[in-house]
Amino acid sequence: MPDSSALTVTYKTGTYEIRVGRNLLDSVSELLTSVGASGPVGIISNAAVNDLYGGPIREALNQAGLVTRTILIPEGEEYKTLASAEQVMSALIAQGMERSGTILTLGGGVVTDLGGFVASILYRGVKLVHIPTTLLSMVDAAVGGKTGVNHSSGKNLIGSFYQPDLVIMDIKTLETLQVRDRISGYAEMFKMGVIRDTSYLEFLVDHMEACLAVDSGDILIQAITRSCELKAEVVEADEREADLRRILNFGHTLGHAIESTLGYGVVRHGEAVILGMFGAGWLSNQVGDLSMKDWDKLSAMLKSIPLELPLESLNPEAIEMATRLDKKVANSQLNFVLLHSLGDAYMQTGVPTLMIKLAVDAIRTAWEGGE
Ligand SMILES: NC(=O)c1ccc[n+]([C@@H]2O[C@H](COP(=O)([O-])OP(=O)(O)OC[C@H]3O[C@@H](n4cnc5c(N)ncnc54)[C@H](O)[C@@H]3O)[C@@H](O)[C@H]2O)c1
Repeated sequence: MPDSSALTVTYKTGTYEIRVGRNLLDSVSELLTSVGASGPVGIISNAAVNDLYGGPIREALNQAGLVTRTILIPEGEEYKTLASAEQVMSALIAQGMERSGTILTLGGGVVTDLGGFVASILYRGVKLVHIPTTLLSMVDAAVGGKTGVNHSSGKNLIGSFYQPDLVIMDIKTLETLQVRDRISGYAEMFKMGVIRDTSYLEFLVDHMEACLAVDSGDILIQAITRSCELKAEVVEADEREADLRRILNFGHTLGHAIESTLGYGVVRHGEAVILGMFGAGWLSNQVGDLSMKDWDKLSAMLKSIPLELPLESLNPEAIEMATRLDKKVANSQLNFVLLHSLGDAYMQTGVPTLMIKLAVDAIRTAWEGGE
């Protein structure tokens, strides 16, 4: 059983390593120097995460002779904006950040997305190391090279593809994470199993308690590593989302609509994706070729994930409308990631938006115990 693991991700013009383990932050300076990172190191974080983990990281880097600068962004998705990115860059430039320096992101997906974006455009690109500190950012946001910020017209509309030089995932940092954020990250690992690897899916279901536990250990290291490996395989095949990478959106068409109608503060991204995966599975069975056996299995697994959501507030009409807006739907037809079978996802064109309301009804019925 591993107490740490390393995974090499290959992309079009290079490779980088993802390190997963417990107490990896104790070796942060060695890890950074192993990829040739030099100072100044611009640490981008928020106050809460910086309070918890920033101090020892700065101390270790300073002792290794790396000068650090820390820039904090305010808490919350609403600060993942171009204006915040500009403020971060202005502060870094004012504090002597150099072209040869390194951006180190320390935080959840908001921080890794914004910090990755800054690294991609500051001085036309500087070295980038991610230290994701939520389960969701470990298995999703910090892997795959998508960076970005939100625009008033929608989420993640501005951004870049920019691969990091190193990703350090220390599961010790997850001990301070709220249980709902843990569930949110578990949902993205679950999604990788549903679309790519049924034995991994079964592993996750069998070890759900261990994955969600505060002091989780080797099981979680294995789970995170496999999820990243599965995502990396897809990204390696289709870095810029021309084709295969779109299957990573399984559960996200409905999930995004649920998030935007319930409100970003009310529902976590991954919680909405759990409901979105239920809706997409239901559609796969109703309008696609997912067998009843696989659908029964998937729906039971999804319903076993603990969720605390005001499901009575799910509004089928509002969700259908949000889906139309989000996807700029032509002729009332949607592209939707569906399943042929568990482990085999595909993009289905021409799903009538009217089916969305029925899928939301199915979600509500299932969680109200009526199914
Ligand atoms: N780039 C991608 O491919 C990709 C993929 C998925 C999601 N995302 C983005 O990721 C973001 C969501 O990420 P998230 O769920 O990590 O949200 P988040 O970054 O908002 O973090 C959630 C909360 O956890 C706190 N936190 C972070 N680490 C902590 C720790 N170790 N202990 C205690 N609290 C901690 C944060 O301060 C925040 O309050 C969204 O902006 C989404 O668009 C990007």
